[in-house]
Amino acid sequence: MLCLGIESSCDETALAVVRDGVLLDAVLASQADIHALFGGVVPELASREHYRYLGTLFDQLMQRLDLRPSDLDVVAVSRGPGLLGSLLVGVAFAKALALGCGARFLGVNHLHAHLLAAGLENELRFPALGLLVSGGHTHIYRMESPSRCIVLGKTLDDAAGEAFDKVGKILGLAYPGGKLMDALARQGRADARLFPRPYLDNDNLDFSFSGLKSAVLNYINKAHMTGEEIRVPDLVASFQNAVVEALVSRAVLAAKEYGYDKLAIAGGVASNSALRAAMQEACDKAHIRFYHPSPIFCTDNAAMIGCAAYYEYKKGTRHGWDLNAIPNLKLGER
Ligand code: KG4
Ligand code: ZN
Repeated sequence: MLCLGIESSCDETALAVVRDGVLLDAVLASQADIHALFGGVVPELASREHYRYLGTLFDQLMQRLDLRPSDLDVVAVSRGPGLLGSLLVGVAFAKALALGCGARFLGVNHLHAHLLAAGLENELRFPALGLLVSGGHTHIYRMESPSRCIVLGKTLDDAAGEAFDKVGKILGLAYPGGKLMDALARQGRADARLFPRPYLDNDNLDFSFSGLKSAVLNYINKAHMTGEEIRVPDLVASFQNAVVEALVSRAVLAAKEYGYDKLAIAGGVASNSALRAAMQEACDKAHIRFYHPSPIFCTDNAAMIGCAAYYEYKKGTRHGWDLNAIPNLKLGER
């Protein structure tokens, strides 16, 4: 089954061709530089950029693979969650393309696709525990099969990536700050006494990061008032450690609770080097196999859309032309 995956839910325009769940090739145009000027993603600009790039990227991908549009069996697209305008551009493009080249059209849940990205480079066996950590989500999932994911816990306020980006903004870093903070933290030394361990004084599987962000802000304000010098790399390393500790402890706790011996991370924050190292160590200790996609498959990409579409198609899911984008689409919530 030859499937074109299209991702345009936020600020990356991405297309990939996937054969039976295996990536053949992918193209991507990032808008990060455009939005960095405004300190965050500007939805109207994002939609326009997707519209500008989709056709050209598609031609480029077909040429690189020496394929004709009529070779495609399925055209799959991210239908949500995400920015409505951005999603609509992708969905309209996918429908028109599928209609024009006689392919099946399929809408994919962006969160589901992120979780399956762990299977792009290594065969992911089920059941497995999934930790999705991105700019908009911090969710723990029971992945019973490739098409059945159930939420076990989630953030009660900010997502982990959002916390990174907000603290980055406080420190005057360019948006999104997560990747820059990862690099900064490597030059610093974490001090566990500096910030609270968010929401770890209970045994449920939820998260909370807004208190940690406030603690960072209070620390900086106090240092300014007392004239105390702030070592930014140390501050960032301490903040990052607090986030990582919360993510690792909850994910491993969930895996143990459900008797799972496989754990996959997904989403932009899953490329964080401290998180990957700490999760690997904790998984080794608990005899859990740890799946961590390469950074290009952690952040928004189209290979994961093609991969999720493969499983959905195999399961028998088919969508009509009336399928719409859903900006607040959920996955596995009761
Ligand atoms: O999955 P993603 O590309 O987009 C969605 O939110 O769906 O995730 C983007 C988020 C941003 O908050 C970004 O700052 C964060 O992932 N991020 C990181 C790192 N790379 C990206 N956060 C921490 N460390 C990183 N290395
Ligand atoms: Zn995403």
